[in-house]
Amino acid sequence: MKIKSAEFLMSNSNVIKAPKDRIPEYAFIGRSNVGKSSLINMLMERKDLAKISGKPGKTQLINHFKINDEWFLVDLPGYGYAQISKKKRTIFQYFIENYFKEREQLVCTFVLIDSRHDPQKIDLEFMQFLGANQIPFCLVFTKADKLGSSKLNKQITSYKKKLLTTLETLPTTFLTSSSTGLGREEFLEFIDGVNANVIKDFK
Ligand code: GTP
Ligand code: MG
Repeated sequence: MKIKSAEFLMSNSNVIKAPKDRIPEYAFIGRSNVGKSSLINMLMERKDLAKISGKPGKTQLINHFKINDEWFLVDLPGYGYAQISKKKRTIFQYFIENYFKEREQLVCTFVLIDSRHDPQKIDLEFMQFLGANQIPFCLVFTKADKLGSSKLNKQITSYKKKLLTTLETLPTTFLTSSSTGLGREEFLEFIDGVNANVIKDFK
């Protein structure tokens, strides 16, 4: 897929206020600092479309981007960021959960995992939440450039194996690096394929 346009539309904390266009939507979620906003910029080949930071907790709202005038891409706040107050965390969880439960245009969610990490409780719980709500998702391993290739392969294989003790089947997975552009083609091809499949439901 060629990216002809990528436009930031709005940020908000309530899914009710999200754009109303009946077009397919893809959401990016995962722990704080895992690289959600960076991956969006890498895919769109834009430096500052989504705001990124070395400190966790940068993205705090539901951010809608319109791509090629045909589909939405959504940058979400990370979960599992210990530094925010309990009250704020509850509000966060509420609006993120609400987004996933209410957003009718959502066709696929990308759950991002740092390639260096073993499965963590919070990620597994989130995948179970998506499963329980019948929300299709893919797994995206990020920051692949941070490990050498043999360590990387070992880590990914072991992650998938461990995941199968919790999930019945493995979701589609992608291996990416926002620094090197690894995985960009496959990722955009996948979205293209889903768009073609769901277009009839959006007519
Ligand atoms: P929150 O919005 O806080 O939830 O974080 P996020 O998941 O959007 O992460 P963000 O894209 O802001 O990136 C966090 C940090 O990781 C930044 O310092 C990025 O430069 C770095 N980073 C993200 N992706 C990669 C990657 O593929 N490789 C490397 N080396 N660094 C990355
Ligand atoms: Mg972010």
